[in-house]
This record gives sequence, C-alpha cells and structure tokens, in this order.
Amino acid sequence: MAYETILVETRGKVGLITLNRPKALNALNSQVLAELLAATQAFDANPQIGAMVLTGSDKAFAAGADIKEMQSKTYVDMYLEDFFSGWETFARTRKPIIAAVAGYALGGGCELAMMCDFIIAADTARFGQPEITLGVMPGMGGSQRLTRFVGKSKAMDMCLTGRMMDAAEAERSGLVSRVVPATELVEEALKSAAKIADFSLPAVMMVKEAVDRSYETTLAEGLRFERRLFHSTFALEDQKEGMAAFSQKRTANFRNR
Ligand code: HXC
Repeated sequence: MAYETILVETRGKVGLITLNRPKALNALNSQVLAELLAATQAFDANPQIGAMVLTGSDKAFAAGADIKEMQSKTYVDMYLEDFFSGWETFARTRKPIIAAVAGYALGGGCELAMMCDFIIAADTARFGQPEITLGVMPGMGGSQRLTRFVGKSKAMDMCLTGRMMDAAEAERSGLVSRVVPATELVEEALKSAAKIADFSLPAVMMVKEAVDRSYETTLAEGLRFERRLFHSTFALEDQKEGMAAFSQKRTANFRNR
C-alpha cells in the first residue's frame, strides 16, 4: 500500500511508523487512521517484525484529531459513523508499539500515544487534552486512559482546564516511562524496540496481553489469566532455551523471534 500520511520503514526486526502530515502538525484524520491500521496490521502479520515504534516530528507527535474534518459533522453523522471507533482496532495491535513523542501530543495525539504500550518522551514533549477549549470532550480514550495513567486529580485538571503537561511532569505522573533528549528520541525508542524484538515473540505478546488485561478485569481474574498464560509459556521451545541458556551461562538464542 502506498501511504500518503505516514512513513513506514523497517529497521531490522522493528517496524518504524512516522506520522507525516507536517502542514497540519500530524492532525489525525480518517486517512491517517486507515493508513496506521494498514501499517500496524501488516507489521502484526509479518513474522520478521517483533515490535514497532510510532513517532511524529520534532514539533508535533500529533496536535489532535483533525478539527477541520470534524467541524461540520452533526450528531447523526458521528453516531452513524461511530466516529473514532476505528481507533479501538489500533489499540488491539498485538505486537508491542512504543510511542516516541516529541513536541505536541494533544487531544487525539495524546490519546494515540496512550494507546501504544509505553511512551518515551523527548524533553520537548507536551501532553494535553484541550478538547474542552473546542466545546467538546475527549473521544479517543482520554477521559479513561489518562485517568488510569495519572489518577483522577491530574486527569480532571488536564481535561477540565485543557492545560498542557511538560515532559518532566508527564514522567513524574507516570504518563511516560522515561524522558530523553530530543535528539536521541527515535534512536532510544528503536533501541528499546530492538531489545523487545530479540526476545521470544510469543512470550512478548503474552506479556502485552497480560498487562493490558489488568485494565479490563478484577485483580483475581487478572492474576488467574496471568498464571494460565505463564503456564502456557512452558509449552514454548523458547522457555527451554531461555532457562538452559541461563544455566549454561550463555546468551539465549530464541527460536521464535
Ligand atoms: C486540524 C490542525 C490541528 C488539528 C493544528 N492544525 N492542529 N488542523 N486539526 N488538531 C493545523 C493548523 O490549523 C495550522 O494549519 C497548522 O496545523 C499549524 O498549526 P498552528 O496553529 O499555526 O501552529 P502553532 O501556532 O505552532 O500552534 C500549535 C498548536 C495549535 C498549539 C498545537 O496548532 C493548536 O492548538 N492546535 C489544536 C490543538 C487541539 O485543540 N487539539 C485537540 C483537537 S480535538 P494552517 O492551514 O492554518 O496553516 C481532539 C479530540 C477530539 O483531538 C475528540 C472530540 C471530538
């Protein structure tokens, strides 16, 4: 597929997707969604790929859902199209995706970063849910995911006032896993993704499934789910190899990676 709003490359076993609508600060329109879904689904289906990185530009990861595309829509349009529901498909990508965020991650941009498995932020990153300033509210998961990341008080503050968080506050609040200099952002994210891609892919995907499950179920059910998945890792050749390599003091050579 020829993409117009994203750039898609592979770096070894890592799929790198770069949002590329510079004139609109990477605002997320229907075409971006369709292309992101096509690219992530292709990487999911590609046995040569073990993890992905999603990034934007130095100025903006993404400045939100495309306001100009939404502006004239009616309630009936939104309801019948089930507008934004396609992002749920993005969030169900099975291989890990690291969001590498520099500059603005606002509204849908912040929500997209939170749909990824973890966020590495450049020191220039700014996160916000400014929908309230447009007379609307978050619609791609902001009120739910941000609350789980940073707690009620900060989520309310962000969504009700529309103020932005800088990278230091985002790290302090648990929104991002780490902050790196802007010049090193993509390389750092690629390095982490390459590390993940070097592990056993089924084990990696089970980790993702188990951590995600913690958001959707009770602790008792989540613990049971984790334990059953853990048991199933003993059906993997990679479990035998990983544990043998430890005992023999050598590096594991995983087969399923
Ligand atoms: C469409 C956008 C856009 C957006 C920026 N642009 N954000 N177009 N949708 N979300 C366009 C501008 O219109 C402009 O196009 C170009 O990108 C450059 O933006 P500027 O505003 O000139 O840049 P700057 O002055 O540097 O300001 C950067 C900014 C500002 C602070 C990020 O662009 C901004 O506030 N953007 C909107 C942020 C926002 O409200 N996001 C939430 C969207 S709603 P032209 O053609 O004029 O050069 C959302 C969730 C929706 O995401 C869920 C509920 C419906």
